[in-house]
Amino acid sequence: MSHEYFNPVRSVYGAGALSSLPGLLDGQRAVVVTFPEARQLGLVARLEQLLGDRLAGVIDDVRPNPDVAELRALYDDFWRAPERAQVIVAVGGGSAIDTAKALMVGTASGRFDELVESLAAGRPFEPARCKRLIAVPTTAGTGSEVTPWATVWDRAAQKKYSLHLPQTWPDVAVIDPELMLSLPAAVTLQSGLDALSHALESIWNVNANPVSDTFAVAAIHDILDTLPRLMASLDDVGLRGRMALAALKAGMAFSNTRTALAHSISYEMTLRYGLPHGIACSFPLPMVLQRALGRSAERDAVLARALGPLDGAAQRLAAFMERLGVKTRFADYGVTDEQAEKMVAYALTGARGRNFIGTAMREAA
Ligand SMILES: [Fe+2]
Repeated sequence: MSHEYFNPVRSVYGAGALSSLPGLLDGQRAVVVTFPEARQLGLVARLEQLLGDRLAGVIDDVRPNPDVAELRALYDDFWRAPERAQVIVAVGGGSAIDTAKALMVGTASGRFDELVESLAAGRPFEPARCKRLIAVPTTAGTGSEVTPWATVWDRAAQKKYSLHLPQTWPDVAVIDPELMLSLPAAVTLQSGLDALSHALESIWNVNANPVSDTFAVAAIHDILDTLPRLMASLDDVGLRGRMALAALKAGMAFSNTRTALAHSISYEMTLRYGLPHGIACSFPLPMVLQRALGRSAERDAVLARALGPLDGAAQRLAAFMERLGVKTRFADYGVTDEQAEKMVAYALTGARGRNFIGTAMREAA
């Protein structure tokens, strides 16, 4: 059986890598898309100094889990004067990078609603014009800097859309662990567990291939070893660097497989229970692992490479998360057994749920 692996993103990695940004612009002008706190952290001033007159503007009102209601104004404003910049530099976590991916693909009318209508109808969307994206993650977890996907929420309609186009791959990912030093404990933990979820979800996945497995296994080893130590020493740039690299590997893994059942569950938990993404997609991991085991000898072998002996692996994973302060049962989040059963059954039918090896086996049976 032949396999294929593809990832076109150039990645620049290392402490201080942000200073490579001016060269990466290739003489083009850029708009920076970032989170509101970037200004008080001194990040915006640093970018202004680095980019000089190549900086065409700063959009710093990115919200967590970007919603169509907030994106509409940003998008329509951006495409009113598209000539001012050829590049979007996204600096932040998944929300900033996802916002930039929504901004970078221009509709013919320049109106965001045209894009949302395509997403809502499940129609293929062909951008009329595009900007180049340079993604600079400030968290170690999202992986969005090396994938073409963006999650766009529509809370009014209780929906989430996945934007993914050949044009939404970032051109370059700049991964600088120094930018992660100021991350608070809660965000460090949530993003680290998001990366763990990406790596595991790429293994119990019908789209897995030997290259994605190699990235995933390495990421899991790194995260299990590094995340607890980093939580005890948040200002250790060496540990920040190891987690940044682990998140990059997890991103490379799931850039080819997409996520699976735990992420499918997470969307419901975020929409209905308000859980942050990193917790919503990681608390079900021990339960999903238990469901994945025994489905395929080949997938079991990769999980054993990642987690050690499979006997007791789900319990060890749950204990790892509980030691980090993350509860792993639905009941801990106010979801009854009956609601949880319904939610998992529904999640298995979603686009990501159908990537789960357990779903495919069940359908084949
Ligand atoms: Fe995720």
